[in-house]
Amino acid sequence: MEVVICRSYDEISKAAAKEIADLLNTKPDAVLGLATGSTPLGMYKELVRMHKHDGLDFSQVTTFNLDEYVGLSPDHDQSYHYFMHENLFKHINVPPQNIHVPSGTAKNHKAFCAWYEQRIKDCGGIDVQVLGIGSDGHIAFNEPTSSLGSRTRIKTLAKQTIEDNARFFKSAGEVPIYAITMGVGTIMEARKLLLLANKKNKAKAVADMVEGPVCTMCTASALQLHPDAMVFIDEDAAGELKMKDYYKWIQTKKPGAPKSA
Ligand code: PGA
Repeated sequence: MEVVICRSYDEISKAAAKEIADLLNTKPDAVLGLATGSTPLGMYKELVRMHKHDGLDFSQVTTFNLDEYVGLSPDHDQSYHYFMHENLFKHINVPPQNIHVPSGTAKNHKAFCAWYEQRIKDCGGIDVQVLGIGSDGHIAFNEPTSSLGSRTRIKTLAKQTIEDNARFFKSAGEVPIYAITMGVGTIMEARKLLLLANKKNKAKAVADMVEGPVCTMCTASALQLHPDAMVFIDEDAAGELKMKDYYKWIQTKKPGAPKSA
């Protein structure tokens, strides 16, 4: 796992967007795995800027989102369909038929989940998967004790997640309690993972993910087993890392890193 400690949220967003732009410049028909939440907003802004000002082309790109609330229709303003449309898709040239977000309104959830898994495979697998992390250490909606081999399925949200996400709804009582989510096993099959985190409330989850045991109590800890996982965090989210100085030192020793005076 490569831990990159950034000076600001802006730097996290730009560094993650650059990873995606570099991929698209070498593989214009890449398959992107996308995430919702507050954390990737800056990265989406930067990708939109790159599209508008630098000509970053999404015309051959395919996308798969991690998750969706069960029961929210795509036009609900808290659905992840709506979030993705407003914050990314409507600003770039990704063909609508190439966009995949799990359906929160599918009648047969089991069949839908199986179709979603197969569709990812049929599109050649995910090249790069963007991830946030919950304050309880979840990736996507894989709450503590989710199997690290899990596939796309329905999950019941943890109370912590409902409380964390209540800020987007009028009250905690309005937050759906079920979601369709890619599994940890699904996520781990992506060829590259980019996990973004900022703010103090993520510090414990980040420390558990990077330095804790690999275990279902922090599903993000599965990233320790991925051969190409990058973690972009700010100083606040890095606050509980024991090896923080080492991760910083590694960055200064990377080829192309600025030489210190
Ligand atoms: P956030 O959510 O980006 O809104 O903090 C992250 C997550 O729960 O995965």
